[in-house]
Amino acid sequence: MDIEKALKELEAALKEELNSIKTIEALQDLKAKYLGKKAELSLMMRHMKDLPDQDKPTFGQTINQAKQRFSKHIEHHRKTLETLKLNKKLEKETIDVTMTAPSYRLGTTHLLNQIIDDIEDLFIGMGYLIKEGPEIESDERNFEMLNLPKNHPARDMQDSFYVTEETLLRTHTSPVQVRTMLEYGGQKPVKIICPGKVYRRDDDDATHSHQFMQIEGLVVDETTSMSDLKGTLLAIARRMFGEDRQIRLRPSYFPFTEPSVEVDVTCSKCDGKGCAMCKHTGYIEILGAGMVHDNVLRMSGYDPEVYQGFAFGVGVERLAMLKYGIDDIRHFYTNDLRFNRQFK
Ligand code: PHE
Repeated sequence: MDIEKALKELEAALKEELNSIKTIEALQDLKAKYLGKKAELSLMMRHMKDLPDQDKPTFGQTINQAKQRFSKHIEHHRKTLETLKLNKKLEKETIDVTMTAPSYRLGTTHLLNQIIDDIEDLFIGMGYLIKEGPEIESDERNFEMLNLPKNHPARDMQDSFYVTEETLLRTHTSPVQVRTMLEYGGQKPVKIICPGKVYRRDDDDATHSHQFMQIEGLVVDETTSMSDLKGTLLAIARRMFGEDRQIRLRPSYFPFTEPSVEVDVTCSKCDGKGCAMCKHTGYIEILGAGMVHDNVLRMSGYDPEVYQGFAFGVGVERLAMLKYGIDDIRHFYTNDLRFNRQFK
């Protein structure tokens, strides 16, 4: 038997068959067919015992070399199949980076908070601290220490929600100013703004709300004057309504300030010429302010012979309504997204 020739034919048959093998499983079967115990190659090996001794080593070597070659062919094909399989898998799992992603709507900061943030920014830039306090306050800090003793007629200006005889929902953020002055013990200058929610017993309508937001400011120092106040008010007016705005001060009354003023800003819609928004006056009232009353300084531990101060209070809703021409204060609280989303 011509063993070399037989092996060559067998190898050619294997190669031929490999060409049509498409799966690893089929390859396993083919491997068994050519290299397994019952494979032709294994059967040939059995002939060895019939050969003369001197021929046995060459015969064995030839068969073994063939075995190795067969194995190599099969393993080579296995690698090819595996690569194909991997490529197919990768192709299927490709991420299409050009596909449009689902869009998520991001929330926005509520307009009132935007205004507060803006004003806080302005005042932080001028060296103020931001102070907050509780919404349930004592009658003492909300009224008495602000020069509004019990039964003072000016208490009617701020109709209140009482919680107990001596505590109420604060009607303004001025008690935070009292708290700060007490904290400083009458010893060091004060320069703060106090943003926060306040409550008054008003019937809700387009321009009134039983709950609203306020920002008050307080400066107490040894040289604080009315002109410092005016400059500060002008800074607020311009930050809110534009750099061309002017302000005017009108005499007014607050129990905690003396003198007290009402602050008007030139109408940003008509530039002071007169229009429907400013009721043809050219001015719009934006806030109340004044020089801190001696009694208030004294009650909080500051000597009015040494210290003077100014204070102002502004309604955040009112600012927002004027700035954006919003005609109903209730829009701020009903959380209609169509309203909220307009202010990004
Ligand atoms: N606390 C006053 C109010 O709520 C506002 C104000 C503050 C007025 C400071 C003058 C000075 O009406």
